[in-house]
Amino acid sequence: MKITCSNQSQFKDHEITDETVFNQRRKLLKQMGFLGAGSLLSSPSQANILDLFSSDKPQNKPAAVMQNLSFIKDKAARDELTPEAKVTSYNNFYEFGTSKTDPAQNAHALTLNPWNLSINGLCHKPFELGYEDLFNKYALEERIYRMRCVEAWSMVIPWIGIPLATLLKQADPKSNAQYVAFETLKRPEEMIGQQSRLVGGGINYPYVEGLTIEEAMHPLTLIAVGLYDKALPAQNGAPVRLVVPWKYGFKSIKSIVNIKLVDKEPPTTWNLSAPSEYGFYANVNPAVSHPRWSQAQERRITQGGLFSQQYIKTLPFNGYGKEVAHLYKGMDLTKYF
Ligand code: MTE
Repeated sequence: MKITCSNQSQFKDHEITDETVFNQRRKLLKQMGFLGAGSLLSSPSQANILDLFSSDKPQNKPAAVMQNLSFIKDKAARDELTPEAKVTSYNNFYEFGTSKTDPAQNAHALTLNPWNLSINGLCHKPFELGYEDLFNKYALEERIYRMRCVEAWSMVIPWIGIPLATLLKQADPKSNAQYVAFETLKRPEEMIGQQSRLVGGGINYPYVEGLTIEEAMHPLTLIAVGLYDKALPAQNGAPVRLVVPWKYGFKSIKSIVNIKLVDKEPPTTWNLSAPSEYGFYANVNPAVSHPRWSQAQERRITQGGLFSQQYIKTLPFNGYGKEVAHLYKGMDLTKYF
C-alpha cells in the first residue's frame, strides 16, 4: 500500500534548530487515501540530511576493538539512507524468528486489518483506533532517523508516522501518569516465535516496552505507520510501531495493540530477560559497553552486500543529544543504562 501525502510543512523554519533535529526535511504528511500510484513526494535525498559528523567528539575506543575496522570517513555516506530493500529484509522481530531474515520470510502470516490499538490507563479520555484510523485520522509526518540496534548495527530510515504526543494528548493523561507502557500483539497462531521458546528466542510474550512520560511526549518520539512512503511492511512492525531514535532499537516496539498510561516504571521485555545487560532507559551510549561487546562503534548498513562491513563511531544519544540530553540531567547514565 502506498501512502500518499501532502507537501505542507508543519514546522516553521526557526523551530528546526539546524544541528539538532536530524530530519530537517521533516514534513507534515497528510494521508490523502490509498492511491495505488505516484506519491507526491520524491524520495528523501541525502542533501537534506544534516551533518552531525562535524560535531562528533573522539569516542571511547578500545584499541583492540577499533583496529582493523574501516570507518566511513565521508560525511554524506555516514548518513546516507539505508536502501529500502535492506530496511525491509534485515530485521529483528523475534515473534517471527531470531535470524535477521526470518521476519521478512514469516511475517506475511500476520493479519494486519482489522487491527485495534487501545490508548488507555491513567487518562480522562481513553480511545481505540482501528486500522484505517492509523492512516486517515491524523496528519502524518515524515521523519528521517538513524536507528541504532543494541547489537551494534545501524540504519538511516525515512519513517512516516504520528507524534506519540498527539495520541497521548488526545487521551488527556491524569497528573499521576508518569510512564507509558506498550504491548505488542500476542497471536501465536500467526506469530511462529510465540509458539516455541526456541523459535522465539526464549523471551516471554507479549513483547512489552516502556518510556517515561517525558520521553513519550518528546517531539522526536514517533508512532510509525509507514516507511519509504509506504505502509509499514509486516516485518518492520506493521501496522503500527514505536520509533525512539535516541534509544537502542529494542525500545522501538513493533505491532502495538496497547498503549497504557501508568504511574510506575513498566516492565520491559529485554530487561526482564537479561537485567544486567539491558536497562529500562537504553539510551544509545558509546561510553557504556554492553557486558559482552563495546558500544563505541556501529556497523552502518548502507550500500553493498547485506553484511557489508562499514563502521562509524556511535554518538551519544545516537546524535540527538541536543534535543534529549536534558531529559536525563543529573542522572548517572552508567547506572540508568
Ligand atoms: N518489537 C517486537 N515486538 N519484537 C521484537 O523482537 N525487536 C526490536 C525492535 N522492536 C523487536 C521489536 C529490536 S531488537 C530492534 S533493533 C528493532 O525492533 C528492529 O527494527 P527493524 O527490524 O524495523 O529494523
